[in-house]
Amino acid sequence: HGTSKINEKGHLEIGGVDTIQLAKEYGTPLYIYDVALIRERARSFKEAFEKMGVKAQVAYASKAFSSIAMFQLIDEEGLSLDVVSGGELYTAVASGFPASKIHLHGNNKSKAELKMALDHGVGCIVVDNFFEIELLKDLTKTSGQKISVLLRVTPGVEAHTHDYITTGQEDSKFGFGLLNGQIEKAIETVLDSSHIQLLGIHCHIGSQIFDTAGFVLAAERVFMKIKEWKSQFSFIPEVVNLGGGFGIRYTAEDEPLPATYYVEKIVEAVKNQVNEMGIAMPEIWIEPGRSLVGDAGTTLYTTGSTKNVPNIREYVAVDGGMSDNIRPALYQAKYEAVLANRALEKHDVPVSIAGKCCESGDMLIWDLPLPEVKSNDILAVFCTGAYGYSMANNYNRIPRPAVVFVENGEAQLVVKRESFEDLIVNDLPLQSKVINK
Ligand code: LLP
Repeated sequence: HGTSKINEKGHLEIGGVDTIQLAKEYGTPLYIYDVALIRERARSFKEAFEKMGVKAQVAYASKAFSSIAMFQLIDEEGLSLDVVSGGELYTAVASGFPASKIHLHGNNKSKAELKMALDHGVGCIVVDNFFEIELLKDLTKTSGQKISVLLRVTPGVEAHTHDYITTGQEDSKFGFGLLNGQIEKAIETVLDSSHIQLLGIHCHIGSQIFDTAGFVLAAERVFMKIKEWKSQFSFIPEVVNLGGGFGIRYTAEDEPLPATYYVEKIVEAVKNQVNEMGIAMPEIWIEPGRSLVGDAGTTLYTTGSTKNVPNIREYVAVDGGMSDNIRPALYQAKYEAVLANRALEKHDVPVSIAGKCCESGDMLIWDLPLPEVKSNDILAVFCTGAYGYSMANNYNRIPRPAVVFVENGEAQLVVKRESFEDLIVNDLPLQSKVINK
């Protein structure tokens, strides 16, 4: 997929760059992003809205993968940015991302984070709870600033992959209850404040969703309430943000729809509601993370030790694992992979790929068909672009990998590999061992 192919040397090539060359130059584990594929995904979301003649904002959910270069790429493609913490906001500002196109999320934003957002002039804050409304009131009263907000609701629709469940009473740590009177209280409180401008409503129903029915149902539920708010508060949202969550293909078992299809279904559902109510079409905002970067990312590892458990299994260990990709250990997430240096050889010997962390659960892939693996082969694991590097950690004091962008035959290092020195940079010695210089 994307710009991946096998070159004349039998090596996996991405973005016109030989991955074996990349492994040599930057070392492994290595995250590689196919920039052309990210651009294509970004454009197709925007075009889908344009085709339907709807005013929209597509905000990249930066939790999927954030770095300065990534934010600059998102800006080049004209998308907005969803950040959920002071750290993501700091990175966005450092990248030069236009603050007016940044949305701040989070279920427990601190006063300092809210102040930071106001100081930088972010475009919108997605308000999650009553505590936050009070913090915002305090902050804006002191500074005299005005801030646009969306109120996040839990619509009682929760979706995971193929299934969605609807619950009357929404049990989630995020947002105001849509059906239990909480959101009306929140609307009243916000409409009452002269510094907080209520732009609209937000909801997000889950992640890695394949079916469109959950999105349609969430939109319908939100509009059912908007109908009431129109007469109750004369409040009609200018913006309805339906979150992210569009599924991608990790393995042959996954059958996602093209991202644009979700957009079409969402827009159709909203149009139906709006026509019925005789109100103007609001702006539709979405926040895809995984579907923008997931399949654009590939991780390279070098194989090392092997272990045969007679009649049961062959283990092949690589030089990374749950420290750079915790998803298999955390969610039993499945991935496909090939030997990047021998990509043309028959992949028909099942082996299980072990990480190098001291934990039995640190297995990346079970029973993966590969050619007969030797040590120092390069394994390429596909679709690691979302929630891979961003959830990487230093368990066992393993340094985080480097990240490289490839496009049009060129590679660019965008995140340096952590060094051992980086690992101890915040460590302080025991007082008694401090040597007075
Ligand atoms: N908007 C909100 C409010 C969200 O909470 C999320 C994801 C997104 C947008 C983006 O969702 P996406 O399009 O990426 O599915 N660590 C998990 C995924 C957690 C998703 C959290 N929220 C994983 O590795 O699968």
